[in-house]
Amino acid sequence: MSDQLTENLPILIVPAKILRLKARPVTRADQALVDRLIPRMFASMYAAPGIGLAAPQVGASLRLIVIDLMADQKPEPLVMINPEIVAASTEQATREEGCLSLPGQYAEITRPARVKVRFEDQAGVRRDLDAEGLFAACIQHEIDHLNGVLFVDYLSSLKRNILLRKLAKEQKIAAEKKAEKKS
Ligand code: NI
Repeated sequence: MSDQLTENLPILIVPAKILRLKARPVTRADQALVDRLIPRMFASMYAAPGIGLAAPQVGASLRLIVIDLMADQKPEPLVMINPEIVAASTEQATREEGCLSLPGQYAEITRPARVKVRFEDQAGVRRDLDAEGLFAACIQHEIDHLNGVLFVDYLSSLKRNILLRKLAKEQKIAAEKKAEKKS
């Protein structure tokens, strides 16, 4: 990717190919790139607004995610580098999910209710975190992005196709409106 990163990185929308790739691990050689990416990913996420964003969604195929649940409207930014789910509960939980790469689309998704995630923070310190509720769902959703997986992949092919067609139609209308404004 280029070095000419603007302040707010555009969020890629399905069917952008990079969203379907397995992202590569972050190494020490990526430090400068990652340090530039992180504030811009937060800026894009807060502007959307969203509660989580994975690097592939802004065009960087790297194992890096940012999360801020904004609990009690207070910012609590969290960076996870090379995150990995190391344990998951057998108990499942279902909640409505959306995705900044599938704007306007939502579905009930079932996942393990609690997970333990292992990652490196921005300082390179390895951490383990136990998560439940919205936090657990968000972590799993963002790590899925690093493996080219989208929340619609958990739906039946019928439901998935309905949702993807609806997205394509809405994106086409939005693009036409934008073109009209320009002309
Ligand atoms: Ni997403």
